[in-house]
Amino acid sequence: MLRDGRELLSSVVASQVDMHARFGGVVPELAARAHLDAIAPTVDEALLALENRWDDVDAIVVTRGPGLIGSLLVGTAYAQSVALMRGLPICGVSHLAGHVYSAMLAEPDLEPPYLALVVSGGHTDCVVLRAHGDAVRLAATRDDAVGEAFDKVARMLGLPYPGGPAVQNAAESGDPSRFPLPRTRLDDAFSFSGLKTAVRYAVRDLSAERLDQRGVPRDPQVVADLAASFQVAAIDQLVSGLEHAKERSGADQVAVVGGVAANAPLRQAVRERFAGLRVVIPPLRYCTDNAAMIAVAGWHRLQVRGADQPGFEVDPGLDEFA
Ligand code: KG4
Ligand code: ZN
Repeated sequence: MLRDGRELLSSVVASQVDMHARFGGVVPELAARAHLDAIAPTVDEALLALENRWDDVDAIVVTRGPGLIGSLLVGTAYAQSVALMRGLPICGVSHLAGHVYSAMLAEPDLEPPYLALVVSGGHTDCVVLRAHGDAVRLAATRDDAVGEAFDKVARMLGLPYPGGPAVQNAAESGDPSRFPLPRTRLDDAFSFSGLKTAVRYAVRDLSAERLDQRGVPRDPQVVADLAASFQVAAIDQLVSGLEHAKERSGADQVAVVGGVAANAPLRQAVRERFAGLRVVIPPLRYCTDNAAMIAVAGWHRLQVRGADQPGFEVDPGLDEFA
């Protein structure tokens, strides 16, 4: 629940992480079904912050894409029904715009223009939010998203889902120079598949007796060293890509957002590299997916573009940052 675009009254997250962990990743059908079960109770809980519940709500915003179609449909069908019954304006928002605007959730006095590195399970993009409702992309990944690379490397190392936090934990006791892994540096893009494949080869090249029946290294020190070597290379690529985008855009404010922005060594590396600039990296609860960031993005979208038609459609491939 958000007031006046900046003041967060409540934020409730129904996490499916435990369910997905049992399957080692997201199962789309289960995700949609879990959404259906969770959506009404979750919204009810968020409404507790308001004295008159629905009567105090002025507008509804909902994620329209990108994402899994089943989950998007559950959310928009619910939001559109409530908007219709209550006669409220409704606005469909891009999940990616939510991540970009999560920086304003963290620091409400932040104003565009700012450069945002959007790093999540599905995206690795550098964008400039030039003004509300106006974002341009400067760089995107050519292959894997960085979060996806963390998740896949975690699997190779026998670490649990979600891979990002597991790799970060394992890396804490690892030597980042033990396995020299390649960095892919491109002018206007990111690429993580070369790095991921290099980890796969490093594991494969261990002698057979050092691997268990799943092909995972037995020695926890090897796992830690591989995790640390991967993590430092991934961060290196992100920070130099961001630096390149900063040069091109001339931005003097930089944000790092999305699930991977929860990564502690990444947060530190960005703060060090951009020491002279305003750097905004939201607290962990606003990095990983949440509805509060969607509310902030939607509030600004409503100001700039007004409400959407009541029956608007979801767009699983939506590629919009504002
Ligand atoms: O933004 P998000 O919550 O969901 C998507 O929109 O994808 O991002 C999830 C991604 C996952 O790939 C997860 O492994 C990664 O963020 N992640 C991390 C960390 N915490 C979450 N990656 C690296 N280090 C972390 N501490
Ligand atoms: Zn996300």
